[in-house]
Amino acid sequence: MPIRLSARQADLASLDVPLLAIALRKDATLTGPLAALDAALGGALGRTLQRRDFRGGRDETFHVVGGAKGPQRILLVGLGEPASMPNALRRAAAIAARAAHGAGAGTMAWFDGAADAASIEAAAVGLQMGPWEYTETRTPPPEPDRRAPLESATIVSGAPGASAAVERAAALGEGIALARRLAMMPGNLCTPDYLADTAREIAKRHGMTVTVLGRAEMEKEGMGSFLSVAQGTPQDPKLIVLEHRKGPKDGKPLALVGKGLCFDSGGISIKPADKMEYMKFDMCGGAGVLGAMETIGRLKLPVNVVGLVGATTNMPSGTAVKPGDVVRSQLGKYIEIINTDAEGRLVLADVLSYARRFSPAAVVDAATLTGACVVALGHTATGVMGNDEALVREVIAAGGRAGEVGWHLPLFDEYKDLIKSDVADIKNSGGRAAGALTAGMFLKEFTGEYPWVHLDIAGTAYSESDLGWLRAGPTGVPVGFFVEFVRGRAG
Ligand code: BES
Ligand code: MN
Ligand code: ZN
Repeated sequence: MPIRLSARQADLASLDVPLLAIALRKDATLTGPLAALDAALGGALGRTLQRRDFRGGRDETFHVVGGAKGPQRILLVGLGEPASMPNALRRAAAIAARAAHGAGAGTMAWFDGAADAASIEAAAVGLQMGPWEYTETRTPPPEPDRRAPLESATIVSGAPGASAAVERAAALGEGIALARRLAMMPGNLCTPDYLADTAREIAKRHGMTVTVLGRAEMEKEGMGSFLSVAQGTPQDPKLIVLEHRKGPKDGKPLALVGKGLCFDSGGISIKPADKMEYMKFDMCGGAGVLGAMETIGRLKLPVNVVGLVGATTNMPSGTAVKPGDVVRSQLGKYIEIINTDAEGRLVLADVLSYARRFSPAAVVDAATLTGACVVALGHTATGVMGNDEALVREVIAAGGRAGEVGWHLPLFDEYKDLIKSDVADIKNSGGRAAGALTAGMFLKEFTGEYPWVHLDIAGTAYSESDLGWLRAGPTGVPVGFFVEFVRGRAG
């Protein structure tokens, strides 16, 4: 259950809450409301800082026991020396809320002294993100061992617009939570069918239209590229289309496209067994589209947006596509399949072509596309490529506002030589050199006239290790990129 969020002005010393979290910069001193709270606590906070028990370093935490009245526990959380205050607050708030959740606080208050809407919104998003966990496939501990889950959080702020900022954050938090839940769900539960059903629910909740193409419909569309990936699996592949039409009538829509591989075994070019279980996360791009559409619907953004998800699984079988096979894409281009594990681009090729019929003003796709992108940028930055420099800059800036870091990678024409085929128009793998970029070049061949940006989120959509502010698993990327991009266009 997502956390209920609110904002209100309050005297910190008289807040009757199980836990009050306070964000402090590196080497901060206690001023204003914090000085008053410190006085009410007999100087306990001041002594903590004076002893240098707590120094305000990034991710640093320190618990102080509360007084007889007022907050029962006080958690100090460090911000370090942040380059971006909203992003630091998101992270610190997540750490605090995660701690409150673990302690069984049930409810908490948050104070950081920030007054601008972006900071309040970011902190509120962090409060939702930190405690998030996937519990649906685990037996809960016996009653006496259970701790109260964190159900609500109040941001202590009297800033005008604080409540509106918190409401926007709640909408974003819901979208991020949906994307993370879908991503974390095991592949036997989160199937292409399940993603389609989820899209139908989003459409119903927010008055969107939904179209779902199955194998038969995609055959009629001539989507031989997408279908080649799906031919080894008995599950029906789905091309899911969600339309949010709240912008000017006949206004060109923005299109958000996601790779939705509910499991990627590699197919006949099978992956090694080690860590193959992480390939349930190969639908994080698609989950990001659905999460973003959920948020866009909640925010009722006055803009036209089409969300497209190419959902299937990539499996080896007697009917699976083989290395050396040539398939015909919807556009009519022939593709030689060198490696059946380079399946994401085969799916996206037909989805990007399909997007042409919406005459989009811009298309942004997100895909856990290449291990090469992880080699290049690690887990710190999403690889950003595209055919329009201005759009690349716009999308990177949008991610930055959401705490999702993107880095521009080039699509020089020379990379196209690496995916020339001896038998077809193009091949789906160019080998190891520039692996993220040849994947981007491949996609580019199937885009339309429209400005387009590709986000390679292979390193950023999920984490194999606990990040402190987020537990191991899906991070919510690319929901922030998508939502902020659309919000930026909504004016
Ligand atoms: N889903 C993978 C990419 C991936 C790798 C995502 C690691 C997250 C972590 C993708 O379908 C894939 O297998 N790509 C291949 C392409 C290669 C065969 C050209 C890769 O990156 O090895
Ligand atoms: Mn693959
Ligand atoms: Zn894949």
